[in-house]
Amino acid sequence: MNRHRIAVLAGDGIGKEVIPAGIDVLKAAASRGDFALEFTSFPWGCDFYLKNGRMMDADAVEQLTKFDAIYLGAIGDPKVPDHISAGELLLPLRRRLVQYVNLRPVRLLPGIASPLAGRTTADIDIVCVRENSEGEYCGVGGRVHVGTPDELAEQTGIFTRRGIERIARYAFTLAASRPRKLLASATKSNALVHSMMLWDEVVGGVAREFPQVDYKKYYVDAIAARLVTHPQTLDTILCSNLFGDILTDIGSAISGSLGIAPSGNINPERTAPSMFEPIHGSAPDIAGKGIANPVGAIWAGALMLDHLGERAAHDRIVAAIGRVFADGKMKTPDLGGSSTTRDVGAAIAQAVMEESRQPA
Ligand code: IPM
Ligand code: MG
Repeated sequence: MNRHRIAVLAGDGIGKEVIPAGIDVLKAAASRGDFALEFTSFPWGCDFYLKNGRMMDADAVEQLTKFDAIYLGAIGDPKVPDHISAGELLLPLRRRLVQYVNLRPVRLLPGIASPLAGRTTADIDIVCVRENSEGEYCGVGGRVHVGTPDELAEQTGIFTRRGIERIARYAFTLAASRPRKLLASATKSNALVHSMMLWDEVVGGVAREFPQVDYKKYYVDAIAARLVTHPQTLDTILCSNLFGDILTDIGSAISGSLGIAPSGNINPERTAPSMFEPIHGSAPDIAGKGIANPVGAIWAGALMLDHLGERAAHDRIVAAIGRVFADGKMKTPDLGGSSTTRDVGAAIAQAVMEESRQPA
């Protein structure tokens, strides 16, 4: 039996509430005995920073590489500047663990209302493949003449042929495995004539290796509008780091709530552990109230099991989420209801147990 060792970084705010719900669901998925999960928690995040002056241990990366995967809640606290909380934990982990794919399914689940009028589950079934290691997030740049009228800031976007090629190949492989075999690449080569022209050339080259995939490129502003006006025409979206950040917030909004969307920071070559987290942040305004929607975290847990080779368990969790929402009774306040994080987590864990009783 496979035993998967999971490093748990619940982090801050509602991360501390949604991750326990996610762990209960993961344990329910493992209860049939097909595989075993071993969880080890780390206290890293903003509370740790306020005590120790750093977001995580100095050897955090070395500690994490001993695990098969990382399950992350949310990072951020009003007492710590965001550029420290994200810039000294989340973004360095994505880069150092070579998690160059940020995989973000965008689906309207049964029982959930989209803010887009008349849209049903069949209209919104997209997966975003966001480049996760370079582009505008590479950290290159600086400021000079600080505080003077001559102050200048430069934020460099780094795009490499190797970086674009590997993310494009991942996205085309995924698109080829999906029924519609459609890939939309988000570009902006009309204005960003260096980086995005390289992007288009490299993506176009990889597209020729996948003649079975219908490849289209769209300017990112147009694809943003298309997500709202014609989401049914989109299937796999390939995008750079910053474009993907923005497009996936639109994606989660059209799927009913930011609280639902999951995300996998994936190292496809498995040279280091991949990291799974809900898209939402630490939501300090509702933290501690027990009302956060745990579905983003639970679904991220399902993506983690899929990555670990437990596809059937992934499918059981996603089916359980669908079943719990389908009858419309369980809704956290972000979806217009009054259920708690615990209610929703327990209902999904229960539904996973019921799914598990079906023959494999
Ligand atoms: C996300 C978040 C992060 C990002 C922030 C917290 C740096 O918005 O995961 O989408 O921009 O990648
Ligand atoms: Mg974001």
